[in-house]
Amino acid sequence: MKAARPLRIAPSILSADFSRLGDEVKAIVAAGADYIHVDVMDGHFVPNISFGTPVMRAIRGLTDKVFDVHLMIAPADPYLEDFAKGGADIITIHAEAGPHLHRSLQAIRALGKRAGVALNPATPVSAIQHVIDDVDLVLVMSVNPGFGGQSFIPESLDKLRQASALIGTRPIDLEVDGGIGPDTARAVVEAGANVLVAGSAIYGGNDPTTYAARIEAIRGAATGLVV
Ligand code: DX5
Ligand code: ZN
Repeated sequence: MKAARPLRIAPSILSADFSRLGDEVKAIVAAGADYIHVDVMDGHFVPNISFGTPVMRAIRGLTDKVFDVHLMIAPADPYLEDFAKGGADIITIHAEAGPHLHRSLQAIRALGKRAGVALNPATPVSAIQHVIDDVDLVLVMSVNPGFGGQSFIPESLDKLRQASALIGTRPIDLEVDGGIGPDTARAVVEAGANVLVAGSAIYGGNDPTTYAARIEAIRGAATGLVV
């Protein structure tokens, strides 16, 4: 039986117009976003640099929505407290980003935040088998992290099914990130995902008048399938 996990649409501000980031955040909230997905990249763990806590702090006060912070950084441990104090609600680290995943997840929970663990496309679900009771969210990357606008990797569906089976009835969110839009939303939800990250499918064109329809197109493709 599929666990009762509510569907959440999490627009990634990585694809926002950074020259007017505050307005982009407000617009996406008004358009019906459930979570704000915050992609942090260090140019070391992934081949791109995005932004860090100063930028996150600057937008934190604009909304009460959950800040879903995806750390694509290594090491992550030295920065967890800064992200927690800066207003992250969920802090997701990569299983590949450090040698002591259990310790890092415990550190996030000790900071009073929800702990997430992300898996790169080549990393098996078994990598998190022994920490599954230490997480609040599992993030299956459906592209190689580092850039928005990449194509969905079909093998991710099998990964999602395996992650969903591992989660079972535990109250753990199953998030998918990369290449998600109306065309892939149904398949990922059928495979067990309930938190759908979307960057270019929502912010593409950076026209706020389109955001609500873009979010609803994804939600509509997925709705009714999360039971
Ligand atoms: C990729 C990031 C994603 C990215 C998704 O490394 O983690 O969150 O913003 O972008 P799209 O939806 O365009 O694939
Ligand atoms: Zn992300």
